[in-house]
Amino acid sequence: MSNPSLLILPGDGIGPEVMAEVRKIIDWFGAKRGVVFDVSEDLVGGAAYDKHGTPLHDDTMAKAQEVDAVLLGAVGGPKYDVLDFSVKPERGLLRLRKEMDLYSNLRPAQCFDALADFSSLKKDVVAGLDIMIVRELTSGVYFGEPRGIIEEGNERVGINTQRYTESEIERAARSAFELAMKRGKKLCSMEKANVMESGILWREVVTEVGKDYPEVELSHMYADAGAMQLTRWPKQFDVIVTDNLFGDLLSDLAAMLTGSLGMLPSASLGAPMANGRPKALYEPVHGSAPDIAGQGKANPCACILSFAMALRYSFDLGDEATRLEKAVEKVLADGVRTADLLNEEGRTPASTSEMGDAVVAALEASL
Ligand code: IPM
Ligand code: MG
Repeated sequence: MSNPSLLILPGDGIGPEVMAEVRKIIDWFGAKRGVVFDVSEDLVGGAAYDKHGTPLHDDTMAKAQEVDAVLLGAVGGPKYDVLDFSVKPERGLLRLRKEMDLYSNLRPAQCFDALADFSSLKKDVVAGLDIMIVRELTSGVYFGEPRGIIEEGNERVGINTQRYTESEIERAARSAFELAMKRGKKLCSMEKANVMESGILWREVVTEVGKDYPEVELSHMYADAGAMQLTRWPKQFDVIVTDNLFGDLLSDLAAMLTGSLGMLPSASLGAPMANGRPKALYEPVHGSAPDIAGQGKANPCACILSFAMALRYSFDLGDEATRLEKAVEKVLADGVRTADLLNEEGRTPASTSEMGDAVVAALEASL
């Protein structure tokens, strides 16, 4: 049997440097745990635009459809701000999500003990926090038609459409219930049923799906109140399920509760392929951070933890995923800090590659 395949798309900004650290981790698992992947690498975002004039070449799209999992760094940068909307780096990422039909985006927000002081919220509000946001990723206002900028009378009108079919809501809800079953058996669904018809339908469908999961305690919240509750007392939540746009906002909020965007991974999952594995793309929640790109300052942990999610959700290697997560935890507990995790003056931060090396050393110590 051939090895499982991984397509690596480092992308732009800090993407390539954090991905270089993930390569060290992948190599370690191959050498020390017999977990060997066929790894290939390609371009996405601005890097792809620079070479091909498009943020995602058709050949790359085809490759992404064939592999067992895609690992992506980040896309975008100021250099590309002037480009036409249709070829902006972000379009490459959105095309991957849409064409791979990755409808369920898992964004965990976990507060590592060693970083509890780092949150902008009080320590007791965030210490031990472990929540999961499930964001619908292939529909809603991100993709709804009609869209565009049109002329009306003597002015222009910008149009986007929030649109959800029952089946789109159902499959996202189902994936959230399944996750809740494996976690704390609590699910909170967030929409704006008080102002949006799509929100009314969302609430109805989620409630209906919930009948298949009687053990899961289901609640509903308006998304604005949800944002408020997330900052007031985030530990009331276990799993949150919400639409594409609300999920974009709420997951950034939840991420910052934990102290640093540089720590948070994500998984975007679709329907099972012929081999039973879900279509999958893994990426850090942080962006391309052009202001620090190329300086060895970036924190590779979010990307490393995204690979841990790949081990768990694509390759059924939950124990190896835990080994990697524990290694990251140990490195933090030992006080290794990249610049984003330091607020003390006068301490020299670890570089991107020093952080990667420390995680490899902690893996080694785990044997
Ligand atoms: C995210 C990002 C993307 C989004 C951008 C880069 C298109 O903010 O993954 O949260 O809006 O979905
Ligand atoms: Mg976002």
